[in-house]
Amino acid sequence: MKLKWGILGLGKIANKFAKDLAMVENCELVAVASRSLEKANAFGKEYGAKNFHSSYEALFNNSDVDIIYIATPHSSHMLYALQALNHKKHVLCEKPLAINKIQVQQLIDASRANHVFLMEAFWTRFNPTFEAVLQRVQNKEIGEVNYVNADFSFFRDADPASRMLNMELAGGSLLDIGVYPVFLSYMLLGYPEQIVAVANKHETGADIQMSAILKYPKGIANLMSGFRSPSDMIARIYGTGGSIYIDKVWHESEGYKVEVGDQLTAYSLPKKGKGFTYEIEECLQCIKEGRIESEKWSHQDSLNLISICDEIRSQIGVKYPFE
Ligand SMILES: NC(=O)c1ccc[n+]([C@@H]2O[C@H](COP(=O)([O-])OP(=O)(O)OC[C@H]3O[C@@H](n4cnc5c(N)ncnc54)[C@H](OP(=O)(O)O)[C@@H]3O)[C@@H](O)[C@H]2O)c1
Repeated sequence: MKLKWGILGLGKIANKFAKDLAMVENCELVAVASRSLEKANAFGKEYGAKNFHSSYEALFNNSDVDIIYIATPHSSHMLYALQALNHKKHVLCEKPLAINKIQVQQLIDASRANHVFLMEAFWTRFNPTFEAVLQRVQNKEIGEVNYVNADFSFFRDADPASRMLNMELAGGSLLDIGVYPVFLSYMLLGYPEQIVAVANKHETGADIQMSAILKYPKGIANLMSGFRSPSDMIARIYGTGGSIYIDKVWHESEGYKVEVGDQLTAYSLPKKGKGFTYEIEECLQCIKEGRIESEKWSHQDSLNLISICDEIRSQIGVKYPFE
C-alpha cells in the first residue's frame, strides 16, 4: 500500500516535514495547499507534489489524497482537522492537536464517526532516543522514577502579530513548546494529581515564561517553557536507583546517558532525517492496519495532554479570545 499525502499550510515546519516524508518508503506527497497559489506552486515543485492548491478546501476535495498533514497556527488546527476528517481524510495534525479539551474531544468524535485515522504530530513520542529511554524507565533500570526536570526555552524577540505571541493565533510558550516538558512528565509519571503554575506575559497576553510543578502520589515534575532566554534543554529523569539525562536538545535528541551508582554510560541513536520520519511511519502502519488511532500516542493521550495544559492556562490566566 502507498499512502498519498497532502500538506495543508506551507510554513516553516511543513518544509522540514516534506523533506522527511520523501525519506519514508510507501509514502508519497501528492498535493499541497496554501492560501497563496504562488507559494503552493513553489512548494509543490520543490518537493515533487503534482497538485498545488490555492485553497485548503481544494485539498479536502482532492480524491487522490489519503492523509492530510496540518501545519497551521494552533488556533486553526481544530477547524482544518475537522474539515479534513469530515471529508474522510486521515489526519496528522501538528501539536497541540487543538487548543483545549473540548476541541480535542470534537476531533476524536469526528475521527470515530468517519472511521478515519487521527493523530497529533507528537514526533518526540516516536524518536528512537525517547523510545529507548521509555523502555529503560519501564524496565525499572533506574528504579521508581519520582522526579522529572525538563524545560524548553529560547530567546526570540518575536513580532507580537506572529503565531508565537498573537492571542488570535493561540500564541504563548505553553502551547508552542511547553507541551514538550508536559508530554515528558505525562509519559513517565502519568496524569498529575495536582498542578501549580505561574507565568510572565507579553503585552499581547501570551505567556512568555511559564513554570509548572506537577505533583503525583509518589513524584514531582518541574517544568518550564519560555521565549525570553535559552535553557540547557537537557531532560533529567531521576529514580530510586539512578538517573537518565536526555541530551540537548532533548525533544529531538540523538542520545542520552544513564547514571547508576558511579557509572555513567552514554548511548547514541542517530535519527533518520530530522526525525519526523518516525511519526510518518507510525501513520502508515496504523492506516495499513485499519486503525483510527495510534497505541503509542492515542486519542486519550492527546486529550490528557491538553487537559493538563487547560489547567495550567486556567491558573496563569491565558484565555484565547475565541474560546
Ligand atoms: N513538530 C515540531 O517540531 C514543530 C516545530 C515548529 C512548529 N510546529 C507546529 O507547526 C505548526 C506551524 O508552525 P510553523 O512554525 O510552521 O508556523 P509558520 O511558519 O507560521 O507556518 C504556518 C502556516 O500556516 C498557514 N496559515 C493558515 N492560517 C494562518 C494564519 N492565520 N496566520 C499565519 N499562518 C497561517 C500559512 O500557510 P499558507 O500561507 O501556505 O496557507 C503559514 O505558512 C504549529 O502548530 C506549531 O506548533 C511543530
